[in-house]
Amino acid sequence: MGWDAARMTAEIIAVAAHKGGQTKTSTSVNLSAGLARASSRVLLVDCDAQANSTSMYADEDDIEFDLLDIVKRDVDPHKAVCETRIPGLHLLPSTLAVARLDQELITMHRREEQIAQALAPLADEYDVMVLDLSPNLGPVVIAALCAATSLIVPTDASRWGRRGVSMFLEWSEDLRTAKVLSADLLGVLLTKYEQGTLISREVHRDLRQSGLPLFKTLIPKRTAAERMVAEKLVMGDEGADMDLSEAYGKLTLEVIERVNAVRGERLTEGSA
Ligand SMILES: Nc1ncnc2c1ncn2[C@@H]1O[C@H](COP(=O)(O)OP(=O)(O)OP(=O)(O)O)[C@@H](O)[C@H]1O
Ligand SMILES: [Mg+2]
Repeated sequence: MGWDAARMTAEIIAVAAHKGGQTKTSTSVNLSAGLARASSRVLLVDCDAQANSTSMYADEDDIEFDLLDIVKRDVDPHKAVCETRIPGLHLLPSTLAVARLDQELITMHRREEQIAQALAPLADEYDVMVLDLSPNLGPVVIAALCAATSLIVPTDASRWGRRGVSMFLEWSEDLRTAKVLSADLLGVLLTKYEQGTLISREVHRDLRQSGLPLFKTLIPKRTAAERMVAEKLVMGDEGADMDLSEAYGKLTLEVIERVNAVRGERLTEGSA
């Protein structure tokens, strides 16, 4: 399965939640690997100074330029992009220095547009960019959301996670009203799901009844998730947890389907 509208400019998918530990990074890393393995040209953009996505593919000592350099110092983004061991998957890395970007953006003119502008020269070279965001509602997150054309909101199967989704979506609606955000909400992704626990089933039922676009794919809770990070393994790798690989494979197909659907709608709206 591929993209219906070939040769369009990259779909920019932000993976966002302001609550920490909601699997933004796991989702970004595995979805981008899944998309690359489904023959897409993918750029994983690490917008978080924790640099967790980056550490899956690069050694911090080897990184020459990061998001701060391309946004603040006008470094050509092509110079910052690194290849990864996965064919078709490139990385725009982050480092601890990116922690300064929130502060820097505050003093910049039209700060919410800065990440979109920094990524624009790369847009024709990828089918999709996946943006891994920090757990906050700061200027970098706002600028990344402004750059996004699609949005995925992951949540773990807990009450706090579920509440976090509602709060985040409320806030993002304010950004939409302020014309900062225009991304289509592709879906809410329920992760760390345990079929055997009441709370998982309750959160699942609640999300299904909420009217939100919930991904059909549920990402199971697996202790192997930690091992995969420690061993720098992603879905589809030899040695990766089979259940997680399968779940992220299904998510990849669902994401492609939903992106194709929203792109179709955008074309219709554009010609109306
Ligand atoms: N399916 C899973 N089952 C169990 N644990 C998981 C699963 N997916 C991710 N984890 C673990 O949950 C923790 C948080 O995941 P992750 O780092 O992806 O979240 P995050 O939203 O990016 O966090 P932060 O807000 O700090 O950026 C990590 O320790 C990760 O290994
Ligand atoms: Mg993270």
